[in-house]
Amino acid sequence: MGSVSDLPVIARKLEGKVAVITGGASGIGECTARLFCKHGAKVVIADVQDELGKAVCANLGSAAAFVRCDVTDEDDISKAVDYAVEKFGKLDIMFNNAGITGPNKNSILDYTKSDMEKVLGVNFVGPFLGTKHAARVMIPARRGCIISTSSVAAVSAGLASHGYTCSKHAVVGLTKNAAFELGRFGIRVNCVSPHGVSTPLATGFVNLTNEEFEGLVASFSNLKGVILKAEDIANAVLYLASDDAKYVSGQNLVVDGGFSLGNPSVDVFKVY
Ligand SMILES: NC(=O)c1ccc[n+]([C@@H]2O[C@H](COP(=O)([O-])OP(=O)(O)OC[C@H]3O[C@@H](n4cnc5c(N)ncnc54)[C@H](O)[C@@H]3O)[C@@H](O)[C@H]2O)c1
Repeated sequence: MGSVSDLPVIARKLEGKVAVITGGASGIGECTARLFCKHGAKVVIADVQDELGKAVCANLGSAAAFVRCDVTDEDDISKAVDYAVEKFGKLDIMFNNAGITGPNKNSILDYTKSDMEKVLGVNFVGPFLGTKHAARVMIPARRGCIISTSSVAAVSAGLASHGYTCSKHAVVGLTKNAAFELGRFGIRVNCVSPHGVSTPLATGFVNLTNEEFEGLVASFSNLKGVILKAEDIANAVLYLASDDAKYVSGQNLVVDGGFSLGNPSVDVFKVY
């Protein structure tokens, strides 16, 4: 995505901003960290993959710092937020992005209570704790922006396991409720819902290579001729984080090329 400082100041959308990105060591989070830094932000990457997270930060230079953080642990999240404030002076943007798929089980009969609790722990309790502790420092500042990663699975049924689907629906609910409460403090809260993006999470879930995964998604996509990339999600997050979205709050920005709008049965009726 180019070097950290190759955009003119006027084009940098996050100049002087400070962000925490959970799950920033890989995939969508890493890509967003790189884009945020390119746009002038300072970024704290909070992840459980220490080596990967530190390597990404080393590549980004003084604009980025790594903190080990398991998003299911309230103390870890609290410390990650405090670390950003101590190191960079404030917190403007919280990106609750860390996620797991959980087991690839379709039947509710096979899905265990512990499967459900594990996925909800990372994908929903994580964003809840991130939102709570970001709000703790943003409320006194009377400004801030909180973004979480939901999924197309929150708007279209049957795409993922019960745990994953429920966790991503819960993220949308949290986003709306938090946006409603925190608006009075000047804090915007939104989420982004990607369709399939080739990342370690996605390719590992279906055991495919990057090319195979992108081919699979393209084969059942609605919007033809383009392949969804992590950069496209990072750009959507950048929009929500920037002043371009200064009056946008409580929204779920679905980045799926229109996939979730339709139903495969339209082919039977040949409406189009
Ligand atoms: N890739 C897709 O197709 C897709 C589609 C829709 C939504 N998403 C969502 O995007 C987000 C990012 O996923 P990705 O596709 O970039 O995958 P990824 O595996 O590349 O990145 C996920 C990151 O989250 C981190 N993580 C996992 N558990 C953690 C924990 N307990 N505490 C802190 N960090 C933890 C991982 O170490 C990893 O760095 C997830 O919330 C995922 O559900 C992905």
